[in-house]
Amino acid sequence: MAVKHLAIIMDGNGRWAKARGLPRVAGHKQGAETFREIAYHCRDAGLEYLTVYAFSTENWKRGEFEVGAILRLLEDYLEEAIEKMVREGIRLKVIGDLAPLSERAKALIAKTEELSSKLSGFQVNLCVNYGGRNEIIRAARLSAESGKAFEDCLDTAGIPDPDLLIRPGGEKRLSNFLLWQCAYTELSFTDKFWPDITGADIDAAIKEFCCRSRRFGGI
Ligand code: FPP
Repeated sequence: MAVKHLAIIMDGNGRWAKARGLPRVAGHKQGAETFREIAYHCRDAGLEYLTVYAFSTENWKRGEFEVGAILRLLEDYLEEAIEKMVREGIRLKVIGDLAPLSERAKALIAKTEELSSKLSGFQVNLCVNYGGRNEIIRAARLSAESGKAFEDCLDTAGIPDPDLLIRPGGEKRLSNFLLWQCAYTELSFTDKFWPDITGADIDAAIKEFCCRSRRFGGI
């Protein structure tokens, strides 16, 4: 079975930096570079969707300096994507509770969505101020108000569930990521920190996934 949709929890940036005597934000900066490389890798490998956990609803608990640095890296990426996405064939969708984001971020997101609507093919979903429980509550409210089906009210409406979720950084948990969508997703964990992850690591996880028997509750 092939992987159409890969989800990644980009964990271990802080520990990657600490191991090098660098400030935590240097880990996030390197993590953003790894994300760029892995996005190209997934596009070239023929995947349809890549969904990454960039900033959670719980990450606001970090110091103002670190939160600001992560959000700036995201804004810089969106700005760069606006210039490159048409040429590079990457559609972009930002997922999460976007209301508390800066006006700059909201304007950049609107522009990337406009450009994405004119493209087809590989899509990156960037989860920003995202939490699975928050998404489920927002979707339940919207479904009750609009009468639309619950799944059509999720941030991921129209996107197939992830086939495989990779979490580097050594922890073995979902951390409030895609709780609804990962009901039958295969999980892959590695002790490597996110900034050290390469295309070869992604290929190895996909290769191992292909040997698994997915029964979705059947036999
Ligand atoms: C988790 O590692 C990582 C985050 C909370 C932030 C992830 C953000 C990026 C990779 C940059 C985002 C930018 C783009 C362009 C996608 P951690 O800080 O919790 O690491 P630790 O567990 O080692 O402390």
